Amino acid sequence: MKHIHVELGKDSYDIHIENGLLDRAGDYIRNLTKSRTLAVITDSNVDALYGQRLETALTGAGFRVHRLVFPAGEEHKCAATLLDLYQQLSDAGITRSDCILTFGGGVTGDLGGFAAATFLRGVPFIQIPTTIISQVDSSVGGKVAIDLPSGKNQAGNFYQPKGVLIDPMLLSTLPKRFIHDGMGEVIKYGCIRDLALFELLEKLDDQSIFDHWEEIIERCCQSKADIVEHDVFDMGERMILNFGHTIGHAIEGCYGFGHYTHGEGVAAGMSMLTGVTEAMGLTKAGTTARLRKVIKQYGLPTDVDASAEDLIPYISNDKKMRGNHITLVIIEEIGKARLLPLVAEDLPKYIRKKDA
Ligand SMILES: NC(=O)c1ccc[n+]([C@@H]2O[C@H](COP(=O)([O-])OP(=O)(O)OC[C@H]3O[C@@H](n4cnc5c(N)ncnc54)[C@H](O)[C@@H]3O)[C@@H](O)[C@H]2O)c1
Ligand SMILES: [Zn+2]
Repeated sequence: MKHIHVELGKDSYDIHIENGLLDRAGDYIRNLTKSRTLAVITDSNVDALYGQRLETALTGAGFRVHRLVFPAGEEHKCAATLLDLYQQLSDAGITRSDCILTFGGGVTGDLGGFAAATFLRGVPFIQIPTTIISQVDSSVGGKVAIDLPSGKNQAGNFYQPKGVLIDPMLLSTLPKRFIHDGMGEVIKYGCIRDLALFELLEKLDDQSIFDHWEEIIERCCQSKADIVEHDVFDMGERMILNFGHTIGHAIEGCYGFGHYTHGEGVAAGMSMLTGVTEAMGLTKAGTTARLRKVIKQYGLPTDVDASAEDLIPYISNDKKMRGNHITLVIIEEIGKARLLPLVAEDLPKYIRKKDA
């Protein structure tokens, strides 16, 4: 059992990480809310796999449970699903003294968290993340959102959970594609500030990693918590979490969302950028080879076919572009990131076309 405290003054909360925690969720939640009534927001896949188990754990601890299930998939992280959830919360008689649980991946956490932030002007909520992305990243930090037809996460808020309960054993049913997808972010944490994590990843692969999830998730959540504590509203330091993301988002956009997963885009983005910064002498020699070996070990790409010219238009729309300036996150060596402000004309130089 691992605990991480996220210190945000009156919005502080704890992250609990333990194999098998799902079956003890009721006991933890009793300490987080005085309410006897819970609304569980979950997607259709997670509900089919684990919905009844969670409900049993909660009713066993004396709670009345309403299960609100929406269809799985990013396309349902939208306004129509949100309105439907509001209606279901209302029909269930949820009040501001009750509590909402978001039980699922990043889609569920973002959508359910946004519903919690806005229904009745804010109902307390607890995250129970079930994918790698959500266990190491999206459930911590308080960003909640839905997508609009014009872009991802365009309507959202900062709204901190009362607690985060992480059961790494739930990852055993996650399809391989989503394991690899999540590994993009895990490798990123190693690169930007956790050499020991990176060294552990070097020793494991996508099978043997299953015995180490508790430790790996703890290390990632600790990094995310440290960064978020210093920059709740994403005005500065939180930017280092974007390592690999500027090129990664461009790759996702250029090929059409869904072709490359987010983690694949981030992996290729980290690899391509580091290849360039190492050649420029900004990154310690040998770093790219080490990074690419780990990226391949977890089934992720180190490069894509698109040229710098293909990718640049998708970077111009990136929110990190301010006027004629953009700030890239680069690594000086494994475990040490820094910000590199650029003028836009120099950007193509930082995108490599082919594997070096
Ligand atoms: N708020 C943030 O800070 C933040 C950070 C990163 C990503 N995100 C968001 O997270 C979303 C991506 O998250 P995701 O990859 O978790 O997507 P997701 O929630 O869609 O989950 C991926 C798939 O796995 C299924 N699933 C979930 N848990 C499972 C389990 N234990 N076993 C089997 N199947 C399971 C889901 O039903 C879904 O089909 C994006 O919308 C992204 O914008 C938010
Ligand atoms: Zn990401």
